[in-house]
Amino acid sequence: MSTALPKGLFISFEGIDGAGKSSHIEALAQAFRDQGRVVTLTREPGGTPLAEKLRALMLHDAMDPLTEALIAFAARRDHLVQVIEPALARGEVVISDRFTDATFAYQGAGRGFSWEQLSALERMAQTGTALQAGQAPDFMREPDMTLWFDLPAEVAAERLATARVPDRFEAQPGEFFARVAQGYAERARTAPQRFVRIDAHASRHAVWQQITQAVVRKGWLAIMVGSKP
Ligand code: TYD
Repeated sequence: MSTALPKGLFISFEGIDGAGKSSHIEALAQAFRDQGRVVTLTREPGGTPLAEKLRALMLHDAMDPLTEALIAFAARRDHLVQVIEPALARGEVVISDRFTDATFAYQGAGRGFSWEQLSALERMAQTGTALQAGQAPDFMREPDMTLWFDLPAEVAAERLATARVPDRFEAQPGEFFARVAQGYAERARTAPQRFVRIDAHASRHAVWQQITQAVVRKGWLAIMVGSKP
């Protein structure tokens, strides 16, 4: 007798640079593994050999904003086709450090691209990738849940001040990040069923509690007593 595959889950982490996602991403992946799930941990831009090359260009080479947006979506398409959709079809949990909301926040709110234009690219890049039987041809892949680390841009800037050599985004002035933060807030307003706002100003433990509560509430994880980030 064959056992039915668990339902694939797609979770993205978002937030401005310095919001503190990294350690929690790893901890959430471990929490799913501890409860018997197979996890694909990935990131954007990147996640495939081609998309990682595009990431290096996007983070380090000068280019105009449209080129930047197109590269973000080109990398995403490859990532979806090569990694995300196959993992979801195998019933895995896919956790991605950033996804399309980052393009709306950074290229949209940050660089000044219109959301209509980005929405058209989003539809083009994220449709027709799904592998599951019975999926409508116009189905557009989006995360099942987006954990949005909300932190004032000034606080994130202080945290980043001690960080490594900045990339093209981290080197942007404070007002760029204030716009990016607003972009995330706006995007969250348009998709309240998918977004979970995490108060990233809280202590590390309190942030972890907000994350686990969100996934437990969905019934995706059993209650984790005393689990640590
Ligand atoms: P990030 O995910 O913060 O990785 P690291 O921790 O290694 O710096 O870096 C990715 C950068 O790319 C980040 O500044 C946000 C930016 N970005 C975009 O501008 N658009 C996008 O669509 C994505 C996915 C990321």
